Amino acid sequence: MAATEEELEVLRTELLEKKTETEKQGEVVRALKGNKVDKKEIEEALQLLMKLKLEVQAKEKEITSKAAGSDGKGNSKESFRQQLNDTLTSRLFFIPAFKIYGGVAGLYDYGPPGCAIKANVLALWRQHYVLEESMLEIDCPCVTPEIVLKASGHVDKFTDFMVKDEKTGMCYRADHLLKDYCTEALEKDPLLTSAKRQELKEVLTTLDELNAAQLGEKIKEYKITAPDSKNPVSDPYPFNLMFSTSIGPSGNAPGFLRPETAQGIFVNFSKLYYYNGNKLPFAAAQIGQAFRNEIAPRQGLLRVREFTLAEIEHFVDPEDKSHPKFKDVADLEFLLYPRKEQLSMEKPVKTRIGDAVSQGVVNNETLGYFIARTYLFLTSLGIQKDRLRFRQHLPNEMAHYAADCWDAEIECSYGWIEVTGLADRSAYDLKAHSDKSNHDLSAFEKYAESKVFERLKITPHLKLLGPAFKKDGDTVGKALLAMSEEEALDMKAKLEADGQAPLEVCTTGKTFTIKKEQVSISKETVTEAGRKFTPAVIEPSFGIGRIIYCMYEHCFYTRPSKGGDEQLVVFKFPPIVAPIKCTVFPLIQNEKLNVVAKDLSVALTRAGVANKIDITGTSIGKRYARTDELGVPFAITVDFETDVTNDVTLRERDSRAQVRVPLKLIASVVRDISEGHLAWLEVLSIYPNVAPSQEE
Ligand code: ATP
Ligand code: GLY
Repeated sequence: MAATEEELEVLRTELLEKKTETEKQGEVVRALKGNKVDKKEIEEALQLLMKLKLEVQAKEKEITSKAAGSDGKGNSKESFRQQLNDTLTSRLFFIPAFKIYGGVAGLYDYGPPGCAIKANVLALWRQHYVLEESMLEIDCPCVTPEIVLKASGHVDKFTDFMVKDEKTGMCYRADHLLKDYCTEALEKDPLLTSAKRQELKEVLTTLDELNAAQLGEKIKEYKITAPDSKNPVSDPYPFNLMFSTSIGPSGNAPGFLRPETAQGIFVNFSKLYYYNGNKLPFAAAQIGQAFRNEIAPRQGLLRVREFTLAEIEHFVDPEDKSHPKFKDVADLEFLLYPRKEQLSMEKPVKTRIGDAVSQGVVNNETLGYFIARTYLFLTSLGIQKDRLRFRQHLPNEMAHYAADCWDAEIECSYGWIEVTGLADRSAYDLKAHSDKSNHDLSAFEKYAESKVFERLKITPHLKLLGPAFKKDGDTVGKALLAMSEEEALDMKAKLEADGQAPLEVCTTGKTFTIKKEQVSISKETVTEAGRKFTPAVIEPSFGIGRIIYCMYEHCFYTRPSKGGDEQLVVFKFPPIVAPIKCTVFPLIQNEKLNVVAKDLSVALTRAGVANKIDITGTSIGKRYARTDELGVPFAITVDFETDVTNDVTLRERDSRAQVRVPLKLIASVVRDISEGHLAWLEVLSIYPNVAPSQEE
């Protein structure tokens, strides 16, 4: 078994102590030899030194094998992943796209079970967010004019740092090279000193904060070369990840494939706000394709060049980010990894979200609400709770305008992977589009009662200021308007007493003499019906492909076949996301049984249960194994008793337990357990349990 990081730390400390002891003994031996003492004494000291050296070697070996993992070769994660990927590709969960032409890195097709799972995950997402929160769903084009992405900042800033192999020209992401170097050294070099380990861990923690120069420095310091050729690499430089295109035949209207779906929502803000009865808060949602020309796509489905995003933009009053439903989730506890714990190299902490918000660790209730709802969503898909954490962005990792950001990260064989970003983006996006488009993207809060108050009104008479002050006329006018209330009242008193007053203009360093007729200063009564402001936006953004891949990893397991000679593969998908909910088998190939099975399959389809009938006559054990590999949670078998008792067996995938359910109820029972309205444990307690056949 692989040792935990804590166990390895203990072993490393023991090794260090042994090494120090050995060095000291070496000095003892040298000193004894120098003093030409008794031969026997030297002999004894030498023997102790040899013993210590052997102990050091043994300890080193122990660390190397314990760090290596369960198969003793350091590749248990790799072999797990290989086995998973073999199943995923052989059962067509996904296929490398355009494979007959050699394929393209970062582009994948989903085959039949993959498509069904994606549809189920999206249906659940819609139920969990759009329906339960009454969100306004929209669907915008992927092709986006340049001006939109210029305003959002993507044209100038949507970049990753790239390095090139100086000889072959191969491109790599600079931060990924550095990350791989550190991770590999930490995982595979058990003999690193603890100071070096600490340093590499710190680099990993702050990786997202490094700029091009800092990344370049580290790459040079660690002598990192191109992974494929071992050639030196260039200095890092920014590469824009958007796919560019032009819209229309003239080639004069530049555009891009959208890198996220959010912008389509922002530009529609005023329409959606109106649709919502001019009321805040409200959320809009969009599911759709996003495109990023990733520098060096790797990690299979985790980093691709076209993927499905499901995004929410929740618009709120920046002065009130409370959430009416926060109390419903406040007691949920899960792993949070706040900034402070990351920077002090501590572990994520299981925290009650209510406490995280009240203590100010999470910025506000609305952000906390979405974090908690995302925890519920991801775990309902079969993501394991102890391998899911919410990590707060470090200060530099966050955009300058953002108030707080957290990533939902899932641990898989590639490490901790961001699957959902949850960001409080303040009013940045709406302000940016409002400035660029000259379209009002603000909200208005009507006061319960209009506010009436007095204020000072300053009116510079420009027609008189111009001739009087020539080129300074404009500056003087602006300076008059910029006066504080106190300054203006002072000037008014002087103008009334002396007919003129001095005006100091700091921008020019000059003092001008203002005449009474050149400016009017008076009090006016103002009635304000409400307040106009740009809403802040809280954005949860879900990478559907990443979520699905992590779900594959967390649901995948193997178990021995009946004879124990084979390892059988199973996906323990929760029924709600399983690609097919139920299979229907005649126990053996028999026309009478086939007819009942076919009728049953039709009844299941009518009840809305995705099912598959298998009348191939293959042994029942093999048919179960085949569907376990697709993660089908339930199997119905029609046998010769069916004819007599009018019931069938229903088998559950993970426990392999079976019950007999009346034929007339089976479709509705399977529908209810597939949709999560009935638990398998209840089914077990309601219907007679039966032993599985010899083959299971
Ligand atoms: P990364 O740092 O991993 O490149 P990001 O921080 O750029 O990701 P966001 O811009 O926050 O990601 O995108 C929102 C979500 O989109 C991410 O949480 C992730 O699930 C998904 N995503 C981003 N890039 C990719 C990609 N190349 N392939 C698949 N999913 C992606
Ligand atoms: N119900 C059929 C079997 O597993 O034996």
